[in-house]
Amino acid sequence: MPSKATDRVAVVTGSSRGIGRATALRLATGGAAVIVNYHTDAASAKQVVADIEAGGGRAMTARADAADPTELRTLLDAAEHHYGGLDVLVHNAAGFVRTPLTAATDGDYAHTFSLNAQATFVALREAGRRMRDGGRIVFISSIVTRIDPPGEALYAASKAAGEHLIRTFAREIGPRGITVNSVLPGPTDTDGFAASSAPVETLIAQTPLGRLGEPEDIAEVIGFLASDAARWITGQHITVDGGLS
Ligand SMILES: NC(=O)c1ccc[n+]([C@@H]2O[C@H](COP(=O)([O-])OP(=O)(O)OC[C@H]3O[C@@H](n4cnc5c(N)ncnc54)[C@H](OP(=O)(O)O)[C@@H]3O)[C@@H](O)[C@H]2O)c1
Repeated sequence: MPSKATDRVAVVTGSSRGIGRATALRLATGGAAVIVNYHTDAASAKQVVADIEAGGGRAMTARADAADPTELRTLLDAAEHHYGGLDVLVHNAAGFVRTPLTAATDGDYAHTFSLNAQATFVALREAGRRMRDGGRIVFISSIVTRIDPPGEALYAASKAAGEHLIRTFAREIGPRGITVNSVLPGPTDTDGFAASSAPVETLIAQTPLGRLGEPEDIAEVIGFLASDAARWITGQHITVDGGLS
C-alpha cells in the first residue's frame, strides 16, 4: 500500500446509498481515491462522487452487480485501470430476505447466498489477487450472526459464511501485510433498514445507547480499519451496534 494516504485507492461495493455511501465519503476524507459502486441507482452514485469532489477528493462511479463474478472482477480491475492499483476493498453490497425457514423458497436461498456468500468469496479472491501489499479488506456482516432474529436465518447464515472466509483469508494473506476484518453493524438508519420492516421501537428499547445507528457510526469504524492505525488488527469481527448484542 502506498505510504501516503492520498495515493491509496479504494473500492466500496454498494456505495450509492446507506452505509456504503457514508464509507465512500469517509475513505475519501482520509485521502483515498474511491470507486463508488452501484447496481441500479446511478443518480445516487453520481451524487456521492459529486459530494466527494466538492470536498476536494477523487472518486468515480462504476456499475456492477456484485452477485455476478464477471462484473465484480471488472469492478476491481477499474481500480488499476483508472487509479493505478487497489489498496482497500470494503465489500458492503448485500441482499436481505425475512421469512420463516419453513416458508423460505429455494429462490430465497439462491438469491441470499449468491449475493452475500458467493459474492464475498469472489470479492476476497479477486481483491487478494490484485491488491498491493499492505492493503485493507473490510467485509460488512451484521449482528444477526450474533442475535439470531427469527425470520432472518438465510440472511444470517449467508453473512456467517462471509465471516468465516474472513478469518481464514486473514491467515492466508497476512504475510503480505494485508489485513482482513469484518464489521458487524446493528440496526442502522438506511433505506435498506427501512425496507426490512424491522421492529424499530423494540430494537431501540433493547439498545443501551438508545437509538438506531447512523451510517456514519459504522463508516468511522470502517475508516479506522482501512487506515494505517489499524495495521495490527486482522481476522477480527468488530461489532458496532450501540451495545444491542
Ligand atoms: N442497515 C442496517 O440496519 C444493517 C444492519 C446490519 C448490517 N447491514 C449491512 O450493511 C450493508 C449495507 O446496508 P445498507 O442498509 O446501507 O443498505 P441499503 O441502504 O439498502 O443500500 C444498499 C446498497 O447496496 C447496493 N447494492 C444492492 N444490491 C447490489 C448488487 N447486487 N450489486 C452491487 N450493489 C448492490 C445498492 O445499490 P443501488 O442503490 O444501485 O441499488 C446500495 O448502494 C449490507 O451488507 C447490510 O447487510 C445493514
